[in-house]
Amino acid sequence: MVEGAVISVRGLSKSFGKTKVLNNINFDVYKGETIAIIGPSGVGKSTMLRCLINLEKADAGSILIDGEYLVRNGHYENERTCRKICSQMGMVFQSFHLFPHLTVLDNLIYAPKYVNREDEASAKKRADEILRKVGLADRKESMPSQLSGGQQQRIAIARALMMNPEILLFDEPTSSLDPLLKNEVLSVMRQLAEEKMTMLVVTHEMGFAKEVADRVLFVSEDGIIADDSPDKIFNLPSNPIIKEFICSIKAV
Ligand SMILES: Nc1ncnc2c1ncn2[C@@H]1O[C@H](COP(=O)(O)OP(=O)(O)OP(=O)(O)O)[C@@H](O)[C@H]1O
Ligand SMILES: [Mg+2]
Repeated sequence: MVEGAVISVRGLSKSFGKTKVLNNINFDVYKGETIAIIGPSGVGKSTMLRCLINLEKADAGSILIDGEYLVRNGHYENERTCRKICSQMGMVFQSFHLFPHLTVLDNLIYAPKYVNREDEASAKKRADEILRKVGLADRKESMPSQLSGGQQQRIAIARALMMNPEILLFDEPTSSLDPLLKNEVLSVMRQLAEEKMTMLVVTHEMGFAKEVADRVLFVSEDGIIADDSPDKIFNLPSNPIIKEFICSIKAV
């Protein structure tokens, strides 16, 4: 494991039945970095993120989060410790996952109030600040169904921020949005990157990966086949698989 890394992954492997999805994955993330994770469909990018936040269990390997092992050589800490370790991370999904029956404000204060036992007035005050940050201060009484996809995703980001995460994981946060709405979500993410939030972003947005990411991990069927600066990945791709992928995305 590497000194100073906020996430270290070594030898991470995961199968679903007989299908080996992740095979010996290794990488490190340092505090304040934005990491773009790109690669073809079905190679295990989502599974990798889900293992980091304990939504999937690895079969083998180690995951160290901020100095604590979530899993060490395939052995997990007890559930309570795992939950504590993962509480430092927030995750944003492609399909928002807001509570449909709660207002925007109640979506934001739900976990702080019921999980962290935060005082309601204090949670509401923080919610106001965070809603301002994502540009939706005027929508706190709206129901999710009254919002556009881009607005819902910005609320999902705000909801994750309410838990004061050290690390944010994004799994294709803009893939279900049309281009205009994509941009409003990407600009919130860009702002978080500038504020040095540590972020891992699975994305097909090559512009974001190029301009915002500090590093790009390219995942193929053989695992992470490149871990490099955006410049190297996009301008000097060493591997024909990466070259082909980038050309295919450009062609869309
Ligand atoms: N819960 C599950 N049970 C069985 N198989 C699964 C499960 N989750 C994922 N898989 C399989 O694991 C493989 C990797 O899936 P994963 O969703 O991690 O890929 P991905 O790289 O995120 O793909 P995409 O770019 O399409 O989102 C796929 O073959 C998928 O069908
Ligand atoms: Mg996926």
